[in-house]
Amino acid sequence: MVKVYVMDNYEGLSNKAASIIASQITLKENSVLGFSTGSTPEGMYSRLVQMYRQGLLDFNKVVTFNLDEYVGLSPDHPQSYHYFMHQHLFNHVNVPPENINIPLGTAENLEEHCRAYDKKIAAVGGIDLQVLGIGVNGHIGFNEPDRCLSAWTCVVDLSEATIKANSRFFNSEDEVPRQAITMGMASILHARRLMLLASGKSKARAIRETLSGKVSTQVPASFLQLHPNAIIVMDKEAASLL
Ligand code: PGA
Repeated sequence: MVKVYVMDNYEGLSNKAASIIASQITLKENSVLGFSTGSTPEGMYSRLVQMYRQGLLDFNKVVTFNLDEYVGLSPDHPQSYHYFMHQHLFNHVNVPPENINIPLGTAENLEEHCRAYDKKIAAVGGIDLQVLGIGVNGHIGFNEPDRCLSAWTCVVDLSEATIKANSRFFNSEDEVPRQAITMGMASILHARRLMLLASGKSKARAIRETLSGKVSTQVPASFLQLHPNAIIVMDKEAASLL
């Protein structure tokens, strides 16, 4: 059963999500955290930075794995997820750089890089808490709706809906990379806890389908229903069709 928290607004969602991460770190200082990017977790990251500055949090033993990265964008590209994570979190807290793992979109051998990524997650004992966003089409990571989904970290083609949605960060739709590396469905579902964040009306339909009671590859987020310890933290607008 997916546990749902409906918060009044985006600020409430961000505070709730940050407090769940904070308690995970407090309970286990060497937690392995799975992070995601996009607009939705920005408030959560800024709250975590604030807590760190107040001396309430220590990331010194934390290990992180990011969900995905665009193929072809180097880590210093302003739209890369490397850049996003450093700008919003890693430049401001004390996660040791060697503990930070983000797929490399410019890796020479992408397939090998993907295989090594899952192996590295397993080698540190698996992810304790994985943060997820959700696409308007129900994707998680870049696992796009399809007839079948990939189990492990791999290179995928972005759907038209995702290219459109993400074009807001680029000068034009043409500049949005067409491929990404993403953790696969098994990579995600192996995490001990999942926390999906959803904000705004545009996510309401995807959230309704995620919690519909049916699991479909056409709504990758619906696989959360198979996980024993998944929660969704959303605002009222994202919950408006429930
Ligand atoms: P968003 O992206 O937070 O920018 O809406 C989420 C996603 O597409 O997974």
